[in-house]
Amino acid sequence: MTSAALARFDGYGVLITGAGQGIGAATAHRLAAEGAGVLVTDLDPERAARVAADIVAAGGRAESLACDVTDRATIEAAVAHAVTAFGALDVLVNNAYSCAPDEALFEDEPDDVWERDLDVTLSGAYRCARAALPHLVASGRGAIVSIGSVNGVQDFGNHAYSAAKAGLAGLTRTLAGHAGPRGVRVNLVTPGTVRTDAWSGREGELSRVSGLYPLGRVGEPEDIAAAVAFLASRDAAWVTGTTLCVDGGLTAVNTGFRQALATD
Ligand SMILES: NC(=O)c1ccc[n+]([C@@H]2O[C@H](COP(=O)([O-])OP(=O)(O)OC[C@H]3O[C@@H](n4cnc5c(N)ncnc54)[C@H](O)[C@@H]3O)[C@@H](O)[C@H]2O)c1
Repeated sequence: MTSAALARFDGYGVLITGAGQGIGAATAHRLAAEGAGVLVTDLDPERAARVAADIVAAGGRAESLACDVTDRATIEAAVAHAVTAFGALDVLVNNAYSCAPDEALFEDEPDDVWERDLDVTLSGAYRCARAALPHLVASGRGAIVSIGSVNGVQDFGNHAYSAAKAGLAGLTRTLAGHAGPRGVRVNLVTPGTVRTDAWSGREGELSRVSGLYPLGRVGEPEDIAAAVAFLASRDAAWVTGTTLCVDGGLTAVNTGFRQALATD
């Protein structure tokens, strides 16, 4: 299934968290289509197994494993599995997250909701980076790409999730400084609204927010996978510590202000 033009990841070993559906699954398909061996991990092992089977059915290389990014033992098992299965771990994609809906009143939010979102979304990426780093250094072309969100850049609600996503930008910069001299690049992608199962049953909201996007639509998982592939590849060999907004212009353009000016 790979072609010379699309073989940027030939011989690469890749581990993606939360890849049983949505953006993680699309990224697994994209990197496998470009030659990578992909370990598809997820809290839900059946989802992960389905994605890996689809990749294999399409002619790619993939395996699957249950991995909870709050559980250091399962993370270490996943890293070891990727190295054994593909001979190296070259790319880690931190994609798993938790996002609790806000309570009507911030003061009413239970501590455990805050702690869960931070634990999965921010500390999960930290744990995975720590476990993967020695192997990424050994690879000589190692890269970490984390999936942030526009919520880490501007207010779109979701206190804990937004704080965790903003934290990922800080972790990306400090890790880039730490790992750069050891040959590992670390970057962040911040998607806007992306049509995944996370939005299932919310077509009305998706349709309403589409109008706020300068490019006239919400994102598709493949839009984010393409950006991850760029940052993970040698095409981004001189890019580290950066945040790439893949958000249809949402955070760059003040659509509400423009619409208010244009009225009457
Ligand atoms: N969909 C969007 O609109 C959107 C927008 C901005 C950012 N993002 C980010 O993109 C990433 C993927 O989002 P999505 O919409 O594809 O998600 P999704 O909800 O469709 O899938 C997430 C997957 O993560 C898994 N998961 C949950 N907790 C986990 C844990 N503790 N350990 C391992 N896996 C776990 C789930 O089982 C699920 O398969 C997330 O980081 C999310 O914050 C999504």
